[in-house]
Amino acid sequence: MSERRSAADSVRWQGFSTRAIHAGYDPDPQTGAVNVPIYASSTFAQDGVGGLRDGFEYARTGNPTRRALEANIAALEHGTYGRGFASGMAATDCLLRSALRPGDHLVIPNDAYGGTFRLIDKVFTQWGITYSVAPVTDVDAVRAAIRPETKLVWVETPTNPLLNVGDIEAIAAVAHEAGAKLVVDNTFASPYLQQPLSLGADVVLHSTTKYLGGHSDVVGGALVTDSEELDEAFAFLQNGAGAVPGPFDGYLTMRGIKTLAVRMDRHCDNAEKVVEFLSGHDKIEKVLYPGLEDHPGHAVAAKQMKRFGGMVSVLVKGGIEDAKAFCARTEVFTLAESLGGIESLIEHPGAMTHASTAGSLLEVPANLVRLSVGIEDIDDILGDLENALR
Ligand SMILES: Cc1ncc(COP(=O)(O)O)c(C=O)c1O
Repeated sequence: MSERRSAADSVRWQGFSTRAIHAGYDPDPQTGAVNVPIYASSTFAQDGVGGLRDGFEYARTGNPTRRALEANIAALEHGTYGRGFASGMAATDCLLRSALRPGDHLVIPNDAYGGTFRLIDKVFTQWGITYSVAPVTDVDAVRAAIRPETKLVWVETPTNPLLNVGDIEAIAAVAHEAGAKLVVDNTFASPYLQQPLSLGADVVLHSTTKYLGGHSDVVGGALVTDSEELDEAFAFLQNGAGAVPGPFDGYLTMRGIKTLAVRMDRHCDNAEKVVEFLSGHDKIEKVLYPGLEDHPGHAVAAKQMKRFGGMVSVLVKGGIEDAKAFCARTEVFTLAESLGGIESLIEHPGAMTHASTAGSLLEVPANLVRLSVGIEDIDDILGDLENALR
C-alpha cells in the first residue's frame, strides 16, 4: 500500500466529494487497485525485530484498510487525527474513558441518543463520574450546568430524536471558558452538512453506521480531533481495549462515504418534501424539522449547517397507539431502528431506540414517530405516508 495520505495532505482538495472519494488512499503503486484493499491480515511480517513495514505490526493496533478510513474521515471533518471503532458506542466509550476520571463531571443534552445516555447513566456513574442534563438549545442553561469539576460538554445537533439544534460555536465558548472540552456527535448531520471542529468543537464523534456508511450494511464509529494529546489517548484505548472495526467493515464504510454528498442532497430534497406533506396533514399534531422557519433552532441550523438533513420527527395526533399504528402501516418505510441508510426507515423512539430514557429527563413523547427519509422516488415515499395515515 502506498504512503498514508494524511488528512493534512488532502487539504489541497477543497471539494467535499473529492476528499470523500480520494482522501486516505492512493491507487496501489504495485497493482494499480483504485479501491483500498480489504487487508485480511491479523499480523504483519517484520524485517528483523521491530522492523515494521509502513508501521504495521498487529491489526488491533493498526490495519491498512482502517488507516485509510481514519484518514478519510479526518479529512471530511477538516480534522488532523481520525480513529475508527467497531461501533458508534465503542467510539463513545473510548472518548468518555479518555476524557474523564473518577470525580469528573460532564454535561449532557436533555435530548440525545438513548444508548449514549444509557452508557453514561448506567455504566460511567458506577466509576465515579457524575453528569447534569441541560437543554442543548439553551447556552445559558449549559453554562449554569457546568461545575468546577466539569471536563466535558456533550452536544448532539440536530438531536436524536427531537431534532433540536445547539449552537456549536456558542457552546464551545462556554465549555472552553470553564476549561472543559466540547464533543459534538455529528451523526445526524454528517460532515457534508456540518463540520463542528471548524466551529470550535474539540472532538467530533460519529456512528458511521448511519449516513457515512449509508447502506445499512455495516456498524462502525469514529472520533476526529485536532488535539494530539486527545488522539494519543484515543489510540491508547483503541489498541488497549480493542473495539476496532475489521478490514471489511472499514472497506464498506469507505465505499459508502464516496457517495455521501449525492446521497445527502437527495436525503435533504426528499425530507423537505416529506415535511411539506406532513405539515398540512390532519393526523399530524406537529412536524419537527430544523428546516422549518418556525423551528426554534432554524436560525442556528441555517448558520452552521449546509442543509437541514434527512431526519424528520412528528408528533402524531391521538396518542401512543396512533403513533405505533402509523409505524406499522408503512411499506416503503421499513419499521426498524437505525437511520441514515438509502432506504426509508420509520420507528417509535419511546418503545425502540429511546426506551432506556423512560422516567429520565431525556424521556421522549409517547406519540413521537421518527422518520429517516431515504433516497427512493419521492412519489412512492409520499404515497406510502398518505396510505399509512389514512
Ligand atoms: C446520534 C447517535 N450517536 C451514536 C449512536 C450509536 O452508534 P452505533 O449504533 O453505531 O453504536 C447512534 C445510534 O443510533 C446515534 O443515533
